[in-house]
Amino acid sequence: MSATTVTEPASLRQRLTTPTVGAHLAACSIAPRTLDVDQALARMLEDLSRPGFWQACEEQVTKARRAFARLVSADVDQIAILPNASVAAHQAASGRRWRRARHILTTPAEFPGIAHTWLSQPGARVRWCGTTGGELTTGDYLSQITPRTGLVSVPAVTYRDAIVLDVARIADAAHAAGAAVFVDAYQAAGVMPLDVDALRCDYLVTGTGKYLLGLPGLAFLYIRHPDGPAPTLTGWLGRTDPHAFRATVLDSPPHARRYETGTPAAAAIYAAVAGLSLIGGLDLRQVRHCTQRLIAAATQRLAAQGEIVRLASHADAQGAHLALVESHADALAAWLGQRGIIAAPRNGVLRLAMHAYTTAGDIDAACEAIAAYRHRSRTRPGGAR
Ligand SMILES: Cc1ncc(COP(=O)(O)O)c(C=O)c1O
Repeated sequence: MSATTVTEPASLRQRLTTPTVGAHLAACSIAPRTLDVDQALARMLEDLSRPGFWQACEEQVTKARRAFARLVSADVDQIAILPNASVAAHQAASGRRWRRARHILTTPAEFPGIAHTWLSQPGARVRWCGTTGGELTTGDYLSQITPRTGLVSVPAVTYRDAIVLDVARIADAAHAAGAAVFVDAYQAAGVMPLDVDALRCDYLVTGTGKYLLGLPGLAFLYIRHPDGPAPTLTGWLGRTDPHAFRATVLDSPPHARRYETGTPAAAAIYAAVAGLSLIGGLDLRQVRHCTQRLIAAATQRLAAQGEIVRLASHADAQGAHLALVESHADALAAWLGQRGIIAAPRNGVLRLAMHAYTTAGDIDAACEAIAAYRHRSRTRPGGAR
């Protein structure tokens, strides 16, 4: 773990190196740059210029696995390290038998890479819940779980509208029907408490490039019972003793490393340790309250400006970002970007993401710049010209 232990959101903000002016409101897409990740990458380059780089890298892998296990209250033997969330979803599906229980229940609000993984499973049929426009409730899941459901895939927070579902309730219903539960927590990890036992999920995936304050190129997969059938996508790191280097033997350890494949992205590993160290020093319940307050304030302000914000009916059903309805979201994001305000356009919305480092001043700056954009571009809220 890096030497820095941050406990106060204000000191976290001081670790940010970008943007130098303006505000970073895009952690739902990409983490802001931090001193800690810069230092971790510098350390990686130093390690690269010395003998024993792979050993140093493996030490970082061990630290990253341990820190993530702690973050979600899991055991290190339940955590696999993979290149991205899509591969992690494939690994979770691998080895499942889609016979009688051949339905995978998911939603159009799922991140596409995860939904595509389910669509590509031979022998499985995907069932959708919620509307194609992205509306979704816990009840939509509950009403569609049947004895034919084999896997229920639930985003902890949806990537576009930041809808939070009652994962534990869905998991109870899924388990009662004999189905397993997969949770994509990419939009939740790092910005709200996550506990795999409280969620009662069988699999949970997240990547390090967003709220976990690392870089893209790395995902963690939690597996409740990691000693099931070994996945067919494998590699030397999926072996009982990777360092035995026996090409003729395909054995699998009885823990989550059996889900791993080949060499991970070294830079992302070093950055993950730095990011997880920052996150590990935060009180995530406090962070959650703080982001909820900021979202309420931002929504009120944007609504007063006539903007259309898609928001859950109550604060606990809203993740850490708000979705401003805007058909020209890329143009608005570019305008904000020129003023140092980094936001995240996606599918007809502009997402403004809050984190522990976000301040009321960031919200003011974004709202003022959005008002100026409307004035200059002569567009109306929602993006109509
Ligand atoms: C909810 C969610 N899941 C997954 C991903 C990324 O998936 P992958 O790591 O496969 O690129 C993202 C964003 O990039 C996301 O927002």
